[in-house]
Amino acid sequence: MPQLAQRVGRAKPSAIMVIAEKAKQLKAAGRDIINFSIGVPNFLPGEHVYAAARESLSHDSGQYGSNRGADALLDAFLTHIEALGFGGYTRSNLSIGIGAKQVLYNLAEALLNEGDEICFAAPYWTSYRDIADIVGARVEVMPCGPEQSYKLTPGQLDAALASKPKVFLFNNPSNPTGMVYTGKEIAALAEVLVRHPDTWIITDDIYNAMVFDGIGYHNFVFARPELRERLIFVDSLSKTYGMPGWRVGLIAGPESVAKALTTLNSSHITSLPEVITAAAVAAFAGPQDVPQAKCAEFAGKRDIVVAALSAIPGVVCPRPQGAFYAFPDISIAFGKSHHGVSISNDVEFCAALLEATGVACVPGSAFGEPRAMRISYTCPTVQLTSGLQRIEQFFSALS
Ligand SMILES: Cc1ncc(COP(=O)(O)O)c(C=O)c1O
Repeated sequence: MPQLAQRVGRAKPSAIMVIAEKAKQLKAAGRDIINFSIGVPNFLPGEHVYAAARESLSHDSGQYGSNRGADALLDAFLTHIEALGFGGYTRSNLSIGIGAKQVLYNLAEALLNEGDEICFAAPYWTSYRDIADIVGARVEVMPCGPEQSYKLTPGQLDAALASKPKVFLFNNPSNPTGMVYTGKEIAALAEVLVRHPDTWIITDDIYNAMVFDGIGYHNFVFARPELRERLIFVDSLSKTYGMPGWRVGLIAGPESVAKALTTLNSSHITSLPEVITAAAVAAFAGPQDVPQAKCAEFAGKRDIVVAALSAIPGVVCPRPQGAFYAFPDISIAFGKSHHGVSISNDVEFCAALLEATGVACVPGSAFGEPRAMRISYTCPTVQLTSGLQRIEQFFSALS
């Protein structure tokens, strides 16, 4: 009997999808479910995006496109990132992929040999570990718990970079914590990075449009421009424009890396479809009122979530300042039981919560922090409020 490749054995189904699937089953069985589990923005792009897609279909060439990305898309992205603060890039610094996830996978293939080390902070987005495992990289996690507001410190980074990992992967704003680094914090980390020239830096900043409280979006290259020669900025249409299903991700980075990704694309995906490209150009180049309005809406929902969670005795919720997630420390519940169901960890907590109240959240261990759970709060406010009430009632019934 032929065997599957070893790397498939290292690939795990997404822990987030397991909870989402269970919630779906319960819903199909007639239960009233409030789903805080999936990280979807829950809005659609502006009408101009659909108009551009329809217009593109009316003169579709039906052909393959560029491995790097169509010039119109690269130019629109260049303008977009210039507004963010990345000046001086040209088309040769860019490449595309089927969403940021595939871009990150491509980057792992392009930068990491088997056995090479990649380091990132925990809590981390689940796919970082999964992708590293598939390509056979060694993962070095820098634990950043709730007591340090889930943020990486310069000292921790300095210590981790001493072993010269091949790649440092950074995520700001963060999924799952919603934390955002200030300009000062980014500058302090950048000072450390310049002292460690053997490490590639990937900044997965796909939530850069979802930053609250006037903090603004900051990148290491804004503080230390010399880092440009080994820093890769990852962006996506998914969260900013409410287009997760359209699957467009992009990078801006050194020419050698953009070229490597483009070469990998020629073996993996060839190109993005024409209609998707047209929609992506419209999203970048068109009015930005939808992302701006959504950012304000999410900031308001963040306030609702933090107020509700902070009112639960023993629950600690570092205040998110971006994206659309909250990541409360729920470990106060461990060792207790809910109507006879004992809870000893985050997985049992989320299972019991879903079963008893119909609220689906993702256990923190999926993100490398088993004291917490993730709440994705993009649902309508009535549902959000009701879900939070159920969580509060669940806690008050613990004994
Ligand atoms: C931090 C982070 N990076 C990357 C991705 C992947 O995004 P995309 O939809 O562009 O593949 C996600 C999606 O949830 C994410 O949260």
